[in-house]
Amino acid sequence: MIDAHTDNDPLIYLDNAATSFPKPREVLERMVEIYAEIGVSPGRGSYDLSTEAAAFVAATRDKIARFFGAPDPDRVVFTVNATDALNLAIQGIVTTGDHVISTRLEHNSVLRPLFHLHERDGVEFDLVPFEADGTVDPDRFARALRPETKLAIVSHASSVLGTTQPIPEIARRCGGAGVPLLVDAAQSAGHIPFALSDWGVSAVAFTGHKALLGPSGIGGLVLGRDLAVASTRFGGTGIDSHSLRHTQSYPHRLEAGTLNLLGIIGIALALECLATEGMEQTHEREMTLVRRLRDGLVAMPAVTVHSPPPRADDLPVLTCTVDGMDSDDVGAILDADYGIAVRTGLHCAPLVHRDLGTVQTGGVRFSLGATTTQHDIDHAIAAMRAIAERLL
Ligand SMILES: Cc1ncc(COP(=O)(O)O)c(C=O)c1O
Repeated sequence: MIDAHTDNDPLIYLDNAATSFPKPREVLERMVEIYAEIGVSPGRGSYDLSTEAAAFVAATRDKIARFFGAPDPDRVVFTVNATDALNLAIQGIVTTGDHVISTRLEHNSVLRPLFHLHERDGVEFDLVPFEADGTVDPDRFARALRPETKLAIVSHASSVLGTTQPIPEIARRCGGAGVPLLVDAAQSAGHIPFALSDWGVSAVAFTGHKALLGPSGIGGLVLGRDLAVASTRFGGTGIDSHSLRHTQSYPHRLEAGTLNLLGIIGIALALECLATEGMEQTHEREMTLVRRLRDGLVAMPAVTVHSPPPRADDLPVLTCTVDGMDSDDVGAILDADYGIAVRTGLHCAPLVHRDLGTVQTGGVRFSLGATTTQHDIDHAIAAMRAIAERLL
């Protein structure tokens, strides 16, 4: 039995793969305090406060470079989010006549820029399928490489299945063929470590508002030493202002206009908060809970769990369907009757759902976060049991 949800019960938020919620209060409060102290245009003025704001931005680039195991803080480029970073990289690297390899696990933030370049410039791309365990086989990936392949793109973790990809193995094969590898770490960053230089990755795109626990509106593209990305937007950088040519040194080459200082402060504080809380311990706790959720759901005959049994470095994300039900209906009942927020539909990764056979119904995605408790999971299991039993 499960008690009916009342308006006084707190929301059980299991949509952390969309955005983490709630954000750590200390991050939000300190963000506003620091912005109130140094919230001027960083590096654009000769006065002390502008220099102080610029120093904060530079220190944050340094923190981010270290977080992703990247060699050069000047090659940390601030963007609006992962979508923006992926567009910046893809459109700054790929041109007419080029070929790109990616995977069928990708989010629309990779698929749509590729499709756009295909339609506009005739860029060719191949999407490598994922295996039954939800991972991409590095050898299969390598077989799709062509002499004209300009770029390879792989998401570190699937936003639907929660599976992580063997990035070092894929990077090794790309490196052997002289093809740069761009990794989409939108889902993984903040859950599991990243080692750009050690893994041989050329660039990583991230977003601040998911497991990194920062605010929305800030993300970035972190480049290794050897990757050249052309500017695709142009404007003020605060340096070389006499020239009509956009600044070509990094990070300004890929940044134009006033930076999102409030977001940069937020990401700096969020990284500190992650380190204090212990990213590894939080992840282990989340993985224990997602296994409990999986065990509960696989025992229900009317529920099909599409995410494979999670490995230690997968993400606390689980997608399932309920026989004969549209995922939106399941989500609406979870919300209205049981006070549980999940994400339903195609999760902006339509090809994953096509391959799972869930395009028509969509999937019900549970994604856990730093504040998820065992009570939340047990409540979700009981709610799903009650929904599945309605079908009997
Ligand atoms: C795998 C993946 N890549 C990219 C994105 C885009 O992130 P953002 O919306 O912050 O740009 C998402 C968001 O859900 C995602 O799951």
